[in-house]
Amino acid sequence: MIILKNERDLESMRPACNVAGAVLRDVAAFIQPGVTTRQVDNFAAERIRALGARSAFLGYRKYPCQTCISVNDEVVHGLAGDRQLRFGDIVSIDCGVMFKGFVGDTAKTVAVGGCGVLAQRLMDVTDQALYVGIAEAVPGKRVTDISRSIQDYVENNGFNVVREFVGHGVGRTMHEEPQVPNFVDSKCNQRLRAGMTLAIEPMVVAGHSGVKILKDGWTVVTQDGSLAAHFEHTVLITEGEPEILTWPERIPSKLKV
Ligand code: MF3
Ligand code: CO
Ligand code: CO
Repeated sequence: MIILKNERDLESMRPACNVAGAVLRDVAAFIQPGVTTRQVDNFAAERIRALGARSAFLGYRKYPCQTCISVNDEVVHGLAGDRQLRFGDIVSIDCGVMFKGFVGDTAKTVAVGGCGVLAQRLMDVTDQALYVGIAEAVPGKRVTDISRSIQDYVENNGFNVVREFVGHGVGRTMHEEPQVPNFVDSKCNQRLRAGMTLAIEPMVVAGHSGVKILKDGWTVVTQDGSLAAHFEHTVLITEGEPEILTWPERIPSKLKV
């Protein structure tokens, strides 16, 4: 069942998504050569707490961290640890928060200091694929229109989408119906309606699309060791343009704890 959000729901869900966007912005700015992924996750925890929210990930199916931090060939669900980020790495940060009873879910990939031209192009194409997908999120179209637009854009640029993980509806819980794949799946062809809130999240790899899960039970990596990028927004379908909910609007960047 797809849960439509009314204006009253959105009075809470908009701020929840703004907080997620603000935390993601701040964490991205914190990334620099030499910091460990645990320091990044701890910083995220501080920001989430300072804004009065809590992580939507910690404890979800026993997930052990506040955020997902995935480096280079890690696609999603990377666990924070002792790994030090190095100049040239690319880091995908996924931040989901619970605030006022709703979840905001958003992700982006950033370079540590700078990166190679392939990595930069992979990030640019994935970022752009997200907006190409969001543009299809209008009433009357179908989930497959979002999926197709993302897949076509990515493949036309010489990269591949991951198939094992997909976008999703989001609301009072992190994962609601419908699933929003980044490739055309005829089983996921629901009609889009105003009031739907979707986490649209292309996961894109520079090489072959196959992925595997590391022994830690969480970290998803490319099978061929190629680089991966991940961008995500929580989006509201309206009668007009789609509304991107996970911008960090109205949330001060430096809030006194
Ligand atoms: N935020 C991820 C998503 O975009 C889900 C993370 S699940 C967790 O759907 F367990 F790793 F937190
Ligand atoms: Co996410
Ligand atoms: Co998501």
